[in-house]
Amino acid sequence: MADASSPRVLSTAGFYRRWLGPQLARDEGVDAEQLSQTALQALAQVSLRRRWPGISSVLEGVATELQRRDLRLEQVLFGCRFSNPVGLAAGFDKNGVAAGVWDCFGFGFAEVGTVTWHGQPGNPKPRLFRLAAERAALNRMGFNNKGAEAMQRTLERQALPAPGHRPAVLGINFGKSKLTPLDQAPDDYAASLECLAPMADYAVINVSSPNTPGLRDLQDSTQLRRLVERLRRLPACPPLLVKIAPDLEDDAIDGIARLAYEEGLAGVIAVNTSLDRLGLGQRLIAQTGRTLAEEAGGLSGDPLRYRAVEVIRRLRASAGPALPLIGVGGISSAEAAWERIAAGASLVQVYTGWIFEGPDLVPRILEGLISQLDLHGFRHLSEAIGSGAPWK
Ligand SMILES: Cc1cc2nc3c(=O)[nH]c(=O)nc-3n(C[C@H](O)[C@H](O)[C@H](O)COP(=O)(O)O)c2cc1C
Repeated sequence: MADASSPRVLSTAGFYRRWLGPQLARDEGVDAEQLSQTALQALAQVSLRRRWPGISSVLEGVATELQRRDLRLEQVLFGCRFSNPVGLAAGFDKNGVAAGVWDCFGFGFAEVGTVTWHGQPGNPKPRLFRLAAERAALNRMGFNNKGAEAMQRTLERQALPAPGHRPAVLGINFGKSKLTPLDQAPDDYAASLECLAPMADYAVINVSSPNTPGLRDLQDSTQLRRLVERLRRLPACPPLLVKIAPDLEDDAIDGIARLAYEEGLAGVIAVNTSLDRLGLGQRLIAQTGRTLAEEAGGLSGDPLRYRAVEVIRRLRASAGPALPLIGVGGISSAEAAWERIAAGASLVQVYTGWIFEGPDLVPRILEGLISQLDLHGFRHLSEAIGSGAPWK
């Protein structure tokens, strides 16, 4: 069992704070995308060699520091066993290169992708900007990824345990290739899913990225129904979830909840990045000299927190407790994670908050959740989901 208080010569969290903290505290400096890429390339090498003696002992040290095991946090949802409710959100490991190591960072699940059928370079750089003071980010990456067949090879090379036997659940998030016209989207998604279905514990239909023209139109219920029905016809379709935008009107959120029920979706992930500038329209982006209102892209991080909670509340009210919800957007503390669970999320994901806070955000959230269960007298996390219980 991990003991976070035990002195270690070089803890993962200490290393992160010391070397990356100063970079992350400023908008300028090392390019945000470059920083993530460098870390990911290193983790990719580690994942390929994770059974080598020297590397496995380093990973064990990281796991000892960051993992927290507690039966009260375990859940089985849509046929997947989650050892804890905190996951890595889509977009960080777009090609699945580090799929074999995310459990060591304490995550109960990780979502790789967005992957598209055709590999594509994404939008011109710079396309990811830190907003350090607000603990937020603006990105217009545009689904840069190597394509579904390349992801299949990447995952195979890492020799992951089979679905259902992994220490952390692996979700794969699917998007539409930029060059595929919108009316052919169902076949484009289906080609990727068919290729990767055997490796996914669950699959996500991403219809909410703001950076692929027209993609969000697929959230319209007629189009989404056509897409879901196409994917359900695949011979071996994993549990299917839909990821939605924070900028939907209430009626559209209710429509998604209805469709999820009628089509037997495994769950809904809310939310993706926002096109709304969330009160930050006049904020200057240092690298371009333009305001957030003038820049294209989706906003993530702390400013998204309250809207993301509202969407989860609406989905829960509309769909009831039977539909699993995954809450994401602006979670950078145990309190924000608890708030999302109390609003109706069974699981949460982190991205921007994890970058700013560092790897010990995951154990801090898990410890916070356990102490809230104690304080409220709940025997298991499931009692907290949708309870509205306040942070104590
Ligand atoms: C740089 C960046 C890239 C992202 N790429 C994807 C993506 O490929 N697919 C996706 O579904 N979401 C993507 N997201 C959205 C995140 O998964 C998440 O929904 C959003 O950032 C809100 O969570 P956060 O506030 O914790 O970052 C991306 C976010 C960021 C910051």
